[in-house]
Amino acid sequence: MGVDSAFGLTEATLEVLPALERWLEFTDVTGPARRRDSWRAELDTPLPEHGAGARATLAELAERVVANGLPVGAPRFTGFITTGPSAVPAIAQFAAALASPQRYAVSAFNLLEDVSLRWLAQICGLDEPVAGIYSSGGSVANLLALGAARQAAFERRGVDVGRDGLPPGARGRIYASAEAHHTIQRAAAVLGLGRDGVRAVPVDGRQRIRPDLLADMIGADVAAGTAPVAVVGVAGTTNTGAIDPLNALADIAERHDVWLHVDGAYGLPAAGVEELAGRFDGMRRAQSWIVDPHKWLATGVGCAATYVRDPQLLHRCFTQTPAAYLAMPGQGAVASPFEEFGVHYDDMGVELSAPPRGVLVWAVLRELGRAGLGERIRRHVGYARRLTELARDHPRLEALTEPELSVACVRYRPLRPADDAHLDRLNEELLRRLWRTTGYLPTSTVVGGRFAIRPCFIGVRHDEADVDGLAQRLVELGDALVAQ
Ligand SMILES: Cc1ncc(COP(=O)(O)O)c(C=O)c1O
Repeated sequence: MGVDSAFGLTEATLEVLPALERWLEFTDVTGPARRRDSWRAELDTPLPEHGAGARATLAELAERVVANGLPVGAPRFTGFITTGPSAVPAIAQFAAALASPQRYAVSAFNLLEDVSLRWLAQICGLDEPVAGIYSSGGSVANLLALGAARQAAFERRGVDVGRDGLPPGARGRIYASAEAHHTIQRAAAVLGLGRDGVRAVPVDGRQRIRPDLLADMIGADVAAGTAPVAVVGVAGTTNTGAIDPLNALADIAERHDVWLHVDGAYGLPAAGVEELAGRFDGMRRAQSWIVDPHKWLATGVGCAATYVRDPQLLHRCFTQTPAAYLAMPGQGAVASPFEEFGVHYDDMGVELSAPPRGVLVWAVLRELGRAGLGERIRRHVGYARRLTELARDHPRLEALTEPELSVACVRYRPLRPADDAHLDRLNEELLRRLWRTTGYLPTSTVVGGRFAIRPCFIGVRHDEADVDGLAQRLVELGDALVAQ
């Protein structure tokens, strides 16, 4: 009998923990990129015929892999909408990988899936009974919600599309603002509606969907015999953090008997914060919602939730045919964890094997509570506002948006008049220099056709000095570029 990997857990952990601690405290954010030639050569090797053993592998993990990771958890990283996890959910993820690497049968991890879905809904201001399911990210979460919407839309026309597929020649439309995340298009493609089945509704000056144009589009499609499947309202766009007018969308959706889906992958946790809740008015009138705990809750990547009013629609859309090997014959009292499956999440989404993600959300909410998470959100929204005000007050900076949430969009503008094309090029170069020389790591977007430097304050380690420092560096680098 042989054991192929017998290194003790404590010993293994101790090999890597110091490297992880160093990684979280590092300041040399450009180091990995500079050293790329050496670590690539060391790691990109032929398949080993014989193993190096546990100690050598862990040492390599610490010295070459961790030390050359991506600085998403750094205090000055404000790119995309991606959070580095804090310590408690990171350890919860580690624990789940070892103590319950599946989400079914009877275990505390399994129970926390249900409990945390309930807590998360309440955090987002969804107090009424809604059914939830975790998945890997906003992409899959949107797919599940829109799958339920498609099921409902075609059932109304007498077709069980999950079972029978789309009827020949059937067309269905999803409506979302031009600022909505492109995962909506992918979901439409996977659901057989086609990427072009998503109608991009133009936005107003605040990057929010234009309800008047939406109503016209639905009217025209209905007249042409195309089935409206869903209206998507974005509760916090990826580009600018804009929140669509959800009440107006709900009015239109109700008038046309269309499903309203709220993509709150980023913004929905802010709906539970008292002074921000008004911005999400109408949100509760929807039929489905998504939220990504791996964004504002900082659970570590790979965790999203979909909520629907009627879980049977998810079931009819996504159920698998029964599998004999999954039957767990229990008879009343449960004496073995394998006598009860638990909630059949595997029949409500696209994953069978899946990690128990609920423990991550539970860990964050157990650690911080509603109040602590609310504090985090307020702090981040305050940072976006502060940067916007600093930009407004400075003669050589400009704010391109009024932040709704924690995204700010700013650019450098020299005193000498310059057209937008010139300002775009200048700010692109400025951003590159910021990345290469300062450790401030926002990313960019385009607002109303203009290139914007776009920090999203969502990380657990930012503080006010990082906001002021970013504004100062933008001015210094912009001035240096103009003086060249
Ligand atoms: C509003 C919105 N929806 C969906 C997504 C996709 O989420 P994920 O990257 O978790 O798949 C994002 C990602 O940033 C997002 O901001």
